[in-house]
Amino acid sequence: MDFQRLIAAKRDGKRLRPQDWRWIAEAASGGLVPPYQLAALLMAVYLRGMDFSETYALTEAIAGSGERLTWPGVDRPLVDKHSTGGVGDKLSLVVVPLLAACGVAVPKLSGRGLGHTGGTLDKLAAIPGYRAELSPEELRRILTRTGCFIAGHSRRIAPADAVLYHLRDVTATVDSIPLVTASIVGKKLAAGADTFVIDVKTGRGALFASQPRALRLARWIKRASEKAGKTCVCVVSEMGAPLGRRVGNALEVEEALAVLAGEDVPEVRELSLELAAQGLKAAGIAPGITAARELARRGLDDGSAREVFEQMIAAQGGDLDAFAKRKRSTAYSAELKAPRDGWLRRLDALVVGRAAGLAGAGRTLTDDEVDPEAGVEIIAKPGSRLTKGDPILVVHASEEDKLRAALKELSGGITIGEEPPAPRPLIRKILS
Ligand code: URA
Repeated sequence: MDFQRLIAAKRDGKRLRPQDWRWIAEAASGGLVPPYQLAALLMAVYLRGMDFSETYALTEAIAGSGERLTWPGVDRPLVDKHSTGGVGDKLSLVVVPLLAACGVAVPKLSGRGLGHTGGTLDKLAAIPGYRAELSPEELRRILTRTGCFIAGHSRRIAPADAVLYHLRDVTATVDSIPLVTASIVGKKLAAGADTFVIDVKTGRGALFASQPRALRLARWIKRASEKAGKTCVCVVSEMGAPLGRRVGNALEVEEALAVLAGEDVPEVRELSLELAAQGLKAAGIAPGITAARELARRGLDDGSAREVFEQMIAAQGGDLDAFAKRKRSTAYSAELKAPRDGWLRRLDALVVGRAAGLAGAGRTLTDDEVDPEAGVEIIAKPGSRLTKGDPILVVHASEEDKLRAALKELSGGITIGEEPPAPRPLIRKILS
């Protein structure tokens, strides 16, 4: 296959055939095409777009690029959860064990951070010993034993997504509706659940800031999932300000543990419960949404979700005691203080996400190491009344330069005014 011809066709806005996409996915997975040609193809897709049927062909090609997991011995309904990515979005760490605690099985494939958004795998990598790359045989054992896992796309499972995802992260081709749809649904199809609950973020910190584009993405994800015979619920949720009070890998694991221990962390508990409830209802575990919400609330409050989380982490090699006792590498910390009295009207999730990246929590090149301890703590949430000098944020970094760069970025992400901001609903729309 002449790869240059395929790039030229996409550059000129032509459609590739399903067999072309299958070949591209195989070539990407097998290292048969150099990254610079794949990057050129991704940029052509980004600029020219793809219609739904071509997007679906790529989705199927990603799903079929490795083994498609099946779960013959699992007698619970299989539900998967995914997010299009946000800032402070640690919800998978709560929702996955919560769903499992409520009686479904959750085989979840996640990714690393994309752009300014944090990735579930980077967060879990902050736990000493945690392994995300597991063989299908290990995944089967873990799912049977604990009811859930969170693993990564790998050389054997959705390998084409692993390659394209990492390239997109460093080639400014992340926020493409066809590419996001194919990446998410392709991974979900490879993981083999029957019901998907997808948190589609909208607002400054989301991949798609505008609500109409986020809604379009939600419709495509749902349509692609249903075309593949799956049930899919999309929850379009607010991402204008960071979720919760922690942004950064280890910081977010700590916050997820707090929610699993019963703490009412702003937005994190509420949205986790709603996503879990939507998944339980869609999977037929509860007769209606009210019963599903009650089931989810009980699973969180009686400690069973936390127990499942601990079992899942241990089954994947992670050591939560070592995590609790770890030594922090971030020798440099500084507060960003209110420059005057007033209401905190804006705390820009995009700016906070970028600042956490500058502090060391993100990557600029595919092979960059992330600093698990770097990040931003949010002391004041939008709507807080501030007096001059009150702390709004605390930044943690392991190098002084990184700390300074993050603080500089953050100074542009805050607005203080005379009036409190209008409340923003956490959930914008549910496509069920
Ligand atoms: N999550 C994914 O898995 N893929 C994307 O493209 C965006 C978010």
